Amino acid sequence: MTAAALERLHSEASGLGLLPAGAAAIRIKGLEKSFGNNRVLRGIDLDIPAGQFVAVIGKSGCGKSTLLRILMGLDEPTAGNLRFEAGNGAESAPNARIVFQEPRLLPWFSVADNVAVGLGEGVPQDVVRAETAAVLSEVQLAEKADEWPSRLSGGQRQRVALARALVSKPGVLALDEPLGALDALTRISMQELLNRVWRELGFTAVLVTHDVSEAVHLADRVVVLDEGRIVLDLAVPHPHPRRHGNPALAELEGQLLAAILGDARAG
Ligand SMILES: Nc1ncnc2c1ncn2[C@@H]1O[C@H](COP(=O)(O)OP(=O)(O)O)[C@@H](O)[C@H]1O
Ligand SMILES: [Mg+2]
Repeated sequence: MTAAALERLHSEASGLGLLPAGAAAIRIKGLEKSFGNNRVLRGIDLDIPAGQFVAVIGKSGCGKSTLLRILMGLDEPTAGNLRFEAGNGAESAPNARIVFQEPRLLPWFSVADNVAVGLGEGVPQDVVRAETAAVLSEVQLAEKADEWPSRLSGGQRQRVALARALVSKPGVLALDEPLGALDALTRISMQELLNRVWRELGFTAVLVTHDVSEAVHLADRVVVLDEGRIVLDLAVPHPHPRRHGNPALAELEGQLLAAILGDARAG
């Protein structure tokens, strides 16, 4: 495909609202969520600048997935405010996508067709082909485009799920323990991949993880939730990409673990 043809496809895609106006900032104020008497989120204030990578950690059941669901518009807050802002500070409806722990692929669709699902209906076939091929090569699966999901490894399936989320060029990407089901080595290579696509594509990322080492490896900032509140908001001021085993990061991991475990003496 010529550069001019690609340019034309991109402008068509923009016209369809497929390409992002850019990463969105997220402003959360006084956010509360109750299920009956269960007060899950008890006043969350969080300002996430456009393009930042934030990790959210905390004990099981502390409300991490609930927070992501509200961010994605999949659930309504009980109280408080959530807004997304475009680059100029104006309120905007972002293109926000989510990746879960399970890839949730359609088994009777090829890899490429599973990714194309992320573009939705009504997109011209040539745009679908170009965007799908581009994102599959971004996640290093170009050669698997015509394969069935059942023929892929767990890590490859999760990369297809990531490609499906990225193909519409989201301004916000939410990730709910996306690497939680993978073995340790696959996890590490997926962390490298996630870090690279985030740096290349520039979306705002909100990653829920159980893994403090993953959080400090990937995030600019790690937020610890406990009993529905933010108990620690820790900057990770280290350049990307980061090396595993960096002692400064290990120090931050210690502080985070202490906050999660509620141990005031440690850290
Ligand atoms: N749809 C729901 N209805 C009732 N309770 C829910 C619902 N979703 C989550 N909860 C409750 O909210 C709390 C937080 O859940 P969740 O956000 O999934 O925690 P986490 O992701 O941190 O493990 C739990 O006590 C859970 O039982
Ligand atoms: Mg959860």
